[in-house]
Amino acid sequence: MAVTIKEVMTTSPVMPVMVINQLDQAVPLAKALVEGGLKVLEITLRTPVALDAIRRIKAEVPGAIVGAGTIINTATLQQAIDAGAEFIVSPGVTDELIDAALQSGVPILPGVVTPSEVMKLLAKGITAMKFFPAEAAGGIPMLKSLGGPLPQVTFCPTGGVNPKNAIDYLSLSNVACVGGSWMAPADLVDASNWDEIRRRAAEAASLKS
Ligand code: 3PG
Repeated sequence: MAVTIKEVMTTSPVMPVMVINQLDQAVPLAKALVEGGLKVLEITLRTPVALDAIRRIKAEVPGAIVGAGTIINTATLQQAIDAGAEFIVSPGVTDELIDAALQSGVPILPGVVTPSEVMKLLAKGITAMKFFPAEAAGGIPMLKSLGGPLPQVTFCPTGGVNPKNAIDYLSLSNVACVGGSWMAPADLVDASNWDEIRRRAAEAASLKS
């Protein structure tokens, strides 16, 4: 059954943002994250193997909810949908992208920073948003400020979130989950250190607000 944006945001407190350079890393990496307790995975479309990685993880990692990140236009949106992405994450918003995503029916978590961007998405019926780049764009004080006039929006802050500040983000009433890359950094992936990635995922999965 199709996943909802609410499930994307509430299944795990942390969404791993994954950059996969080699296709044979995709399945063991995703397995380590899912075994650690992080089921909702964002595969960024930043590498040539990303779309194949989505296909493989969907086929070979039971329990994973596989999304595509770094979707910046309708062409990459369509590629991600064709590869089987169950949800879409974008770093920002264009009318063209948001309208195409809404028309396709695939859940989208669009990136915003400002009240105006939030209001544009609210006008399209979207209430779940990625706050990106979280730390650089004002972090926790900014999210608290947005929550005053725009309390109906739920955010997934991403960008500069780490094991130290994640719990503070998660304690905000308008934050459902955070995104981050610290569970699966390039050095651990390149070293095939799945045990450490599994350990970091378990630690992240246990974060509660
Ligand atoms: C990204 O764009 O790579 C994500 O926002 C992850 O950011 P992070 O590496 O700071 O967690």
